[in-house]
Amino acid sequence: MADRAAKLFARCFGHPPRWIVAAPGRVNLIGEHTDYNDGYVLPMAIERYTVIAADRNAKREVTLHSVTTGETATFSVRTALKPGEPAWSNYVRGVIAGFYEGGQKITGFDAVIDSTVPYGGGAASSAALEVAAATLLEAMSQRALPPLDKALLCQRAEHEFAGVPCGIMDQFTSILGQKDCALLLDCRSRTTTPVPMTDPTVTVLIINTNVRHKLAEGEYAKRRSQCETAARALKVPALRDATAQMLEAGRTGMDPVVFRRARHVITENERTLQAAQAIQASDWPTVSRLMYASHASLRDDYEVSCPELDAVVEIAQSIGEKGGMIGCRMTGGGFGGCAVSLVKTEALTRITREIDGSYERRAGKHATIFSSRPADGARILKG
Ligand code: GLA
Repeated sequence: MADRAAKLFARCFGHPPRWIVAAPGRVNLIGEHTDYNDGYVLPMAIERYTVIAADRNAKREVTLHSVTTGETATFSVRTALKPGEPAWSNYVRGVIAGFYEGGQKITGFDAVIDSTVPYGGGAASSAALEVAAATLLEAMSQRALPPLDKALLCQRAEHEFAGVPCGIMDQFTSILGQKDCALLLDCRSRTTTPVPMTDPTVTVLIINTNVRHKLAEGEYAKRRSQCETAARALKVPALRDATAQMLEAGRTGMDPVVFRRARHVITENERTLQAAQAIQASDWPTVSRLMYASHASLRDDYEVSCPELDAVVEIAQSIGEKGGMIGCRMTGGGFGGCAVSLVKTEALTRITREIDGSYERRAGKHATIFSSRPADGARILKG
């Protein structure tokens, strides 16, 4: 990818790039919609990357060429940055604005952006772009930010420039991902515990439904505010602090939808902690139960699944343990995008073929299926 980006850069701008950086996407094994409730998540960075090749220019202007969309965005860095068009450029604009606010002098630069992270597909393509942009600005200024500050800066870019009030999971994982490990992240203390994923008999398989439902972003903000309503009703700082008993005791007088949203978060936090232990112990039947329970809770209580994601999970359930399927669930924000599954490595080819055929019959479209090992976080590749 670095070679390809360098060649494209040379073709666009007439000389080789001075810097090349890469930031991975992520898949979340379990712990969905818990990060903005101060809870637990269990993601891993994947071997899919957003790569930026860049060099300074003599103008106080940034030119970004996206290989994915074929578009070029140009904007000035003379004055304070504001959101603009095309939409994807906001992830970079927001990160530049964050560096500027942090007291960094921003010079103009030219860049080519290439990515193998499925675009808008629930694998954190926006976080990968933000983190790649932040890594580039670190390289250009020869000053590395502390990882947590970098993650928060990227998250702020998403809040303020893309209008999505996301949690910290995606940016954190793209920065701190570790080869061969999932990360159990405590989103309150922002500390991670690596969970080794080195069992060669088990493979992480990601199934992109290739659908994305428009309502996604407004619904995300709505879920977040319903969780805040529930926390206020239960008189806790965040749903992380609530238990199933507290929720049951507070049920009377609570809006039934808010009740179900809270039930998802409270049970998902428990499942995430249990799954981290079960993975460590190679207790695959427990992992299986937790993944399917997570999906059912996201579908029924949190209502962020969609027919295509449900179809993938049902196909996985029909393949079952005997067919080498350990477990499957939607991953990421929902309303389309990817499902994540753990499968027996020996059954990988057969399972891929089976999901491919069955999904096409049920959904009337093609799924994109790929496996990934847990990858390292963002890197400067050149410069
Ligand atoms: C998106 C957000 C994350 C997280 C997930 C749901 O990916 O960016 O912060 O909330 O949705 O778990």
